[in-house]
This record gives sequence, structure tokens and C-alpha cells, in this order.
Amino acid sequence: MRKTSQSLVLLFVCCFVMANSWAKSGEKALREEQIEHELSNLQNGVRVFTNLCVLCHDLKYVKFQDLAEIGMPIENIDEIRGVNNIGDPMLSKMNAQQMHALFGMLTPDLSLMAKARGNGIQYIYSLLLAYDERGDGSIVNILYPNIKMPDVLAYSITNDASTRSRLEQDARDVVAFLAWTADPRAQERRSLGVYVMLYLFVLTFMLYLVKRKTWARLKS
Ligand code: HEC
Repeated sequence: MRKTSQSLVLLFVCCFVMANSWAKSGEKALREEQIEHELSNLQNGVRVFTNLCVLCHDLKYVKFQDLAEIGMPIENIDEIRGVNNIGDPMLSKMNAQQMHALFGMLTPDLSLMAKARGNGIQYIYSLLLAYDERGDGSIVNILYPNIKMPDVLAYSITNDASTRSRLEQDARDVVAFLAWTADPRAQERRSLGVYVMLYLFVLTFMLYLVKRKTWARLKS
């Protein structure tokens, strides 16, 4: 009996270690850097998105007015929305027909992308920086060689170290922004979670006192 349970434990440990290393080998190519989620990062993310990504991608679940929630000043929102109404969704400058003509496909909406893909935040970040210039001058995405999106940050052709690190920051910030669009209440939930835990803690303590009092009376 003892032997069986020992073997079971051993088997379990082996499975765990193997599953873990498989998972790691699958994700090996993804960058693991910390993504900062401060308001300043989200706002820079908006800047990157509205300068670049919006040329080809929609954020159909995000309205211009929602940007106020991450502290975007109204003048900046007005500048970003241009002729659009403040309650309009943030759609691409390109319509479906133009997308088809250019890429042979509709470019995906990015509102929920950070949640739709496994390890979405690191995935998008890594994808944006995975472009590399080959010896023959062609540019490939090392993670997804067949992807139809060009190197929009021009990362592969930037050699200057400080520009590269600024582009990496831009990539992190646009990802932080996309994490917010995919789950705008995440931060709120996290801080609410702390209060809920505190409440449960106090409640447990009070119930413990009640229990002690009740039993003291029963025992005497
Ligand atoms: C010039 C057009 C263009 C621009 C600009 C652009 N993209 Fe893309 N993007 C595409 C196309 C086309 C695809 C679809 C690629 C495919 O599936 O082969 C794509 C795909 C993606 C995907 C992959 C989605 C998936 O299915 O997994 C992500 C993430 C993404 N883009 C993020 C961004 C971000 C962030 C920016 C701005 C920094 C950006 N894109 C700017 C054209 C563009």
C-alpha cells in the first residue's frame, strides 16, 4: 500500500515536471519582460495605437469617450477622434474592402485580443518585436513567418540602441493599453479583491469570537 502511494506520488511529480517543461518549450519564443500598467503607460499606448495600429485595426468595443477612464485629457480625446462623435467606436481608417485589397483578409479587431489569445499580453508584445531583417534585405517575423502584418514599428531596421529601447517601451505600452481594452475593470477588481479579503478576515475573526463565547457558556 505504502509502495503504491509512493509510486503514485512519483508519477504525479514526473507528470508535473514534464508538463511544465513542455509548456515552457512551447512558450520559449515569447518575451517575458514585465509590462507596466500605469496610466502614463496606457496613455502612451493610446498614442501608439492611434498613430499606427488604427491604420489597419479596429477597436470596435472601445468608444473615444472611454479614453477618459484612463485619464486622457478631453483635448487629446477630441484630437484623436477628429470628425467622429465622442460616443463612436474607435474604428480603423481602412474599410473592409481596402483591407481585403491590401492583405487578402480582414485585419482582426484588437479590442479583446489580449484576452482572446493564450498568454495574450506577452504574445502581442513578442509578436510586435519578432521582426528581423534577413541577409537578402527581406523582413520576416520569427515567431509567425507567414503573418501578413508588416513590421509596423520598424523594429527590424532600427539599429540604434536607444531608439530600439524606445520602440520596446512603445510595444509594452500599446500592449498595456490593449490589456485594458480587453478587460477595463481588471484594476478595479484587483483593488476590490483586497477589500473583500479584509472583510472576510474580519468576519472570520468575529465568528471565532462568537464561537468562543457560545462554547464557553455551554461548557460552564
Ligand atoms: C499596415 C497594417 C497594419 C498595421 C499598421 C498594424 N497591423 Fe496588426 N495586423 C495586420 C494584419 C494584416 C494582420 C493579420 C495577419 C495575419 O493573420 O496574417 C494583423 C495582425 C495582428 C495581430 C495578430 C492577431 C492574431 O490573430 O493573433 C496583432 C496582435 C496585431 N496585428 C497587433 C497590432 C498592433 C498592436 C499594431 C500597432 C502597433 C498593429 N497591429 C498595426 C495589419 C496591421
